[in-house]
Amino acid sequence: PIIEPFDYIVFGGTGDLAKRKLLPALYHRDLDGQLPETSRIIGSARAEMTRKAFQTLVQKSLEEFVGPDALDKTVLKRFLDRLYFISCDATAARGWPDLAKLLNHEPRAIRVFYLATSPELYGTIADNIHAHKLQTPETRIVLEKPIGHDLASAREINDRVGAVFEERNIFRIDHYLGKETVQNLLVLRFANSLFEPVWNHNGIDHVQITVSETVGVEERGGYYDHTGAMRDMIQNHLMQLLCLVAIEPPSTLDREAVRDEKIKVLKSLAPITQNEISTKTVRGQYRAGAINGGPVKAYADEKDIVPGSTTETFAALKVEVKNWRWAGVPFYLRSGKRLPEKVSEIVIQFKPVPYWIFPTGSDHAQPNRLVIRVQPNEHIRLHLWTKEPGPGGLRLRNAPLNLSFAETFKGHLPDAYERLLMDVVRGNATLFMRRDEVEAAWEWTESILDAWKNSGERPKLYTAGTWGPSEAIAMIVRDNRTWFDEQ
Ligand code: BG6
Repeated sequence: PIIEPFDYIVFGGTGDLAKRKLLPALYHRDLDGQLPETSRIIGSARAEMTRKAFQTLVQKSLEEFVGPDALDKTVLKRFLDRLYFISCDATAARGWPDLAKLLNHEPRAIRVFYLATSPELYGTIADNIHAHKLQTPETRIVLEKPIGHDLASAREINDRVGAVFEERNIFRIDHYLGKETVQNLLVLRFANSLFEPVWNHNGIDHVQITVSETVGVEERGGYYDHTGAMRDMIQNHLMQLLCLVAIEPPSTLDREAVRDEKIKVLKSLAPITQNEISTKTVRGQYRAGAINGGPVKAYADEKDIVPGSTTETFAALKVEVKNWRWAGVPFYLRSGKRLPEKVSEIVIQFKPVPYWIFPTGSDHAQPNRLVIRVQPNEHIRLHLWTKEPGPGGLRLRNAPLNLSFAETFKGHLPDAYERLLMDVVRGNATLFMRRDEVEAAWEWTESILDAWKNSGERPKLYTAGTWGPSEAIAMIVRDNRTWFDEQ
């Protein structure tokens, strides 16, 4: 589809997210010939920097994150020519007139302001966009997660940005929604007739959602230490995955239809109360250990971590969705840093058959399981019982039907940001969060954060390179279930 000419203005243009994700994603779109000739990318940050220096910085990050092999000389030159830089103070007047001047060279272009800064600046940046008259009828604003630090700050951001931009022009990004395998959840559930009849408390025993990472906090200690796994991952990415597993079929793929269904799920989440936190939640923090055989330090010893920090780098939760479809079906969620592998996965554990007529083997009790691997080695595996071929007795084996994305669809899977950044230009908000969604997710999360705080307990320590504190295993074993750590 043809994309209309646009100007992308990235606040936090020299930051980690811009370098790792946003600029490489725009480069890939350029490589595919999707960027109109006149479209510009304007980096903005507080530091002074010449346009040339910004171009050099971007070229270096592309070499690092796109890889020198995927860099095409002609496209690279074209891409670097699109870049501009404006040094601008989000909280003061400096730089804004320069930005206005630059933007006014292309008054008809669609404008996208991408806020890859600390959420504390979102309101002020929106005010400045308004004060300097940078808004045209086709101007959109993108807010990176986390939107605020809690419900009150999220509301404040939504109010302030909402005073300048109409809701249809506000794009609250959760990049998990742009992942191919996450978009595929709706297709899997609602384009196949097979699953829907059993996709409820009659057919499903429980659901597991794991998003694990091997990295620690790297250079992001300053951000992470006052954020933690609950705010950084659960409140947004895992909640969105849960919503897509649990939603009712929307009547269309229209943005409001999909988001109307997601909000119903969020509103059906049973709050976790103060006296339930010890049985339904676990939070952990990594101590020194090893990842892939190499020693790594403790969270407490990472850069920019406050001494005695009680920030969680791991969280596990037992969540209940209180409605007809999901009554009595727990959703076990876990996410953490410095775990043994990087994997995002959803496991649907079906119920056993009512009566087992076959010889009993050691794991005969293991019923069907659908594994949706979000990343890496994207696949969908349905574990089925089959007869092991052979003339002897009847032996059963649990074997998977495997749909591997790499084998079935050759070629590279686009990064989530590639899809989402272009959706913003097109004005398509289906894969973005609506105001009420973000606030409902905060409301639910905040009660747990408060309960943790009130308990005065420190997070449980776990050794880096293990699957979190033993309490996370105990939490699910108490229900006679186990985490599936598939390779
Ligand atoms: C970000 C978090 O939103 O998601 C990071 O802030 C995390 O802490 C990242 O590392 C994980 O994303 P992905 O796409 O690598 O799973």
